[in-house]
Amino acid sequence: MAIHNPLVFFKRFLASPVAVGAVLPTSLATARVMASPISPNGRVLEMGAGTGSITQGILERLTNVTRLTAVEIDPELATEFRKNFPAVSLVVGDAEDVLRDGSGWDAIVSGVPFTVMETEKRARMFDLIKRQLNPGGVFIAIQYSLSSKTELERNFRSVDVKFSPLNVPPAAVYVCREPITDVSAT
Ligand SMILES: C[S@@+](CC[C@H](N)C(=O)[O-])C[C@H]1O[C@@H](n2cnc3c(N)ncnc32)[C@H](O)[C@@H]1O
Repeated sequence: MAIHNPLVFFKRFLASPVAVGAVLPTSLATARVMASPISPNGRVLEMGAGTGSITQGILERLTNVTRLTAVEIDPELATEFRKNFPAVSLVVGDAEDVLRDGSGWDAIVSGVPFTVMETEKRARMFDLIKRQLNPGGVFIAIQYSLSSKTELERNFRSVDVKFSPLNVPPAAVYVCREPITDVSAT
């Protein structure tokens, strides 16, 4: 069982509240809700991995740790992540760059705080996510409000919202399938 250090997370929240976007790591109950749509043999990208709370749920679901690549922009959280999950391939940097460089994910799981992100950056990232998902792939994102729902519905034909009250703060988990590539047509 991995050890998560909520104090490190809280300190990074105080240092960069907008980028970190939450006071505490995601609960394991929520991580399991997020991981449930993932196919066990799928190739998975986790964006905004923090100290690895969602990672734990994803690893419970996957048949092999090599199926997962994680990305975290904050070097201190990345150091903590490596202590918790030494076997997981971790990129320290911006998830947007990883999306641009890589391709072919069966699931993209996001802890990134999209609601407080600059509008243009969020649009670029949604665009890349749609292009990098394999056919039948799923985009799963945790948010703390329903404000992203309309934007996600413009980008995906199927958007399910699952509520996870066992989280601080209570979370909404978006499960998005069937990317709409020509958004102007909607
Ligand atoms: C709300 S926290 C979630 C952390 C962890 N996944 C969890 O659920 O406890 C958001 C995380 O996304 C990271 N982050 C924000 N913008 C990012 C970006 N563009 N690329 C990669 N990570 C990013 C933050 O540093 C932070 O660790």
